[in-house]
Amino acid sequence: MRLILLGPPGSGKGTQAQRLVSRHGIVQLSTGEMLRSAVAAETPIGLQAKDIMANGGLVPDEVVVGIISDRIEQPDAKKGFILDGFPRTVPQAEALDELLKKKHLRLDAVVELRVNESALLERVEKRAEETRARGEEVRVDDTPEVLTKRLAQYRTLTEPLIHYYSERRKLLTVDGMMTIEHVTREINRILSAIGAVEPKAPPAR
Ligand code: AP5
Repeated sequence: MRLILLGPPGSGKGTQAQRLVSRHGIVQLSTGEMLRSAVAAETPIGLQAKDIMANGGLVPDEVVVGIISDRIEQPDAKKGFILDGFPRTVPQAEALDELLKKKHLRLDAVVELRVNESALLERVEKRAEETRARGEEVRVDDTPEVLTKRLAQYRTLTEPLIHYYSERRKLLTVDGMMTIEHVTREINRILSAIGAVEPKAPPAR
């Protein structure tokens, strides 16, 4: 299965990707996580991305496309993958199409998580509070100010992908306002409906 999770910051892409990965035995490819690791390791990409990410901007397309095209080549991605946070612009989506075409691979679906803005803010604030309570370092972009900028980037540069994938008949929209468990169930239901995954076996009697 090859899947894209699309949605604004805090919509649950990372949460749902982890749940789907453990159920379907495929890998999660999160450009946000990869970039945060690069920033922590102070690699050339990390140094380039650091300030952009801290200010809620988008890292240049060619950088993230390069990261993803290398990552897709790795053996663990052969069985399938969930793209979490990529593509985020139309040029990134076009680059992904080219990449998959070259490898004769098919994208199964793009799952869009819809969540309203006030819930996004609450979730991101809660995540920051919980991280702080654990004594861990809070993401520099998890502040109301930077979230506002991340949301503006999403509306301007990422939302056009809804139309892009809808035109290509790949888009499946899920209500991301439900509980985490319900959202997972709904994603699995729609993925089995299109034949991308096996329906879950009913519990044994
Ligand atoms: P990235 O790491 O991708 O961040 P994001 O898209 O802003 O998403 P988040 O991680 O904040 O949220 P999420 O949707 O994964 O939600 P989560 O599951 O964590 O990107 C960070 C930065 O990297 C970007 O701003 C950019 O600078 C750069 N970047 C990354 N990819 C790029 C690209 N392709 N091109 C250019 N630049 C790129 O959930 C959030 C919280 O809500 C959690 O606490 C969770 O427990 C909770 N939650 C989840 N679901 C529910 C639910 N249903 N009900 C209640 N709470 C829930």
